[in-house]
Amino acid sequence: MINAIFIGPPGAGKGTVASMLHDECGYVPLSTGDILRRAVKEGTELGIKAKDYMDRGELVPDDVIIGIVKEYMATNDSAKGFIFDGFPRTIAQAEALQEMTQIDCVFLLDASEDVVIERLSGRRVCKKCGAIYHIKNHPPKVEGVCDICGGELYQRDDDREQTIRMRLRVYREQTAPLIDFYREKGLLVDIDANRDAVENAREIADYIKRHCSN
Ligand code: AP5
Repeated sequence: MINAIFIGPPGAGKGTVASMLHDECGYVPLSTGDILRRAVKEGTELGIKAKDYMDRGELVPDDVIIGIVKEYMATNDSAKGFIFDGFPRTIAQAEALQEMTQIDCVFLLDASEDVVIERLSGRRVCKKCGAIYHIKNHPPKVEGVCDICGGELYQRDDDREQTIRMRLRVYREQTAPLIDFYREKGLLVDIDANRDAVENAREIADYIKRHCSN
């Protein structure tokens, strides 16, 4: 069993690679972004609280996010371990996670600003199953329709250029300090996420097999 974290700017491909590792290796992705979007869609108290922050491209407050992760881990089992995608995003979240479980490795999926803007502006997501597409890099067989479940594809509200730029700023100011935090602990592994997603997934799966599995 391993617990791994994916850190990286918005659009680096964290969700895409987490989903590939789930399909190929059985690791369970724990995406705080997906949990929040579900809550917004269902109109729950959490969703109402989170929506404005998300639409502005800002972080949802730490206490809310830490509560979500604690609850998710208490109610979802993973024999193979979790891949934390998009959590932690602040030092306070990282310290809280340390109290919850052991972390075996932290992958920094880094990609240039031009690359992530191009990826996010072309991203489309399935309304029903959450599968991720890109209009050029990974188009569905039928435009606007999910290959997996036939659901409708949509563009996320925070994938507009102005909000993308805000999310990148928030990443640099509030999340990038985690890079040194985990490097000092000897847990950080650098991944050049400018490359093809399949290559990124393969490199990470190999690393986990060689260094983290027991
Ligand atoms: P979240 O959903 O986590 O967004 P993010 O971190 O900004 O990451 P993204 O989902 O945008 O990108 P990704 O790296 O997963 O890329 P993807 O694989 O989709 O968070 C959204 C919001 O929720 C935050 O702004 C915040 O408000 C809130 N939130 C969430 N967690 C929080 C926390 N812990 N604390 C506080 N607030 C929190 O790929 C992108 C596109 O590129 C896709 O179209 C894909 O097909 C394509 N693609 C991917 N990889 C490649 C590749 N290698 N080559 C070519 N195309 C690729």
